[in-house]
Amino acid sequence: MLSVKEIDVCYGKAQALFNVSIHVKKEETVLLLGRNGVGKSTLLKSIIGLLPPAKGSIFFNGQRISGKKVYRIANDGIAYVPQEREIFSDLTVEDNLAIAEHKTQDGRWSIDKVYQLFEPLKKMRKRLGGNLSGGEQQMLSIGRALMTNPTFIMLDEPTEGLAPLIVKMLEEQINRLKESGIGILLAEQNLSSALKIGDRVYLMEKGSICYESSTKDLMKNRDILNRYLGIG
Ligand SMILES: Nc1ncnc2c1ncn2[C@@H]1O[C@H](COP(=O)(O)OP(=O)(O)O)[C@@H](O)[C@H]1O
Ligand SMILES: [Mg+2]
Repeated sequence: MLSVKEIDVCYGKAQALFNVSIHVKKEETVLLLGRNGVGKSTLLKSIIGLLPPAKGSIFFNGQRISGKKVYRIANDGIAYVPQEREIFSDLTVEDNLAIAEHKTQDGRWSIDKVYQLFEPLKKMRKRLGGNLSGGEQQMLSIGRALMTNPTFIMLDEPTEGLAPLIVKMLEEQINRLKESGIGILLAEQNLSSALKIGDRVYLMEKGSICYESSTKDLMKNRDILNRYLGIG
């Protein structure tokens, strides 16, 4: 479904990604792991069109998307939930969801479906986005992305800064999202959380992919866990 081929990405003169290639198959959940500053967010921003690659190409469902505008890539069915949760703090939960709606022919998502997945949001429907807790804002941010009826969603460190109980709830919700048949690319530093969810893993180091395997194989590889993630 998604294929990133040998891309370089730069911020001005500073190169942040070096010859990065990854792919995500239909309905697959793929993890992008690595410490702070290795280039996870840069890769997601490049895929959605915010940072076009200086070299290489990106394909989605066989079509080249690198070089296209962000809204066109979103229209193709890719949703992106940035690390800095994008919601409107002066709109209610319900209005936040309503304005994100993008009707498609086989539109699977509706406000009610989002409330079924994220039950806490239903009780908060009249509350302003700015008055939600961090966990509720994350759910709303993902809910807004789902309202565009994507076939593929990219989540950038969704559990960052959240309390353990909320993290657990979010893991269950992302698992249910996965079961709905959507492709997921999940950037995470929270390894224990990520490993419960992912099918396959890419590990990043200094702007490059340094390791790739199934989630199961990574969990058995103490050397890699220790070297790149500082655990094991
Ligand atoms: N807006 C920016 N301008 C210049 N350099 C940036 C910018 N954003 C990120 N970088 C640099 O790019 C590298 C990768 O950052 P990032 O993709 O945010 O990493 P991660 O998401 O893995 O923490 C880092 O060296 C960071 O300093
Ligand atoms: Mg990041």
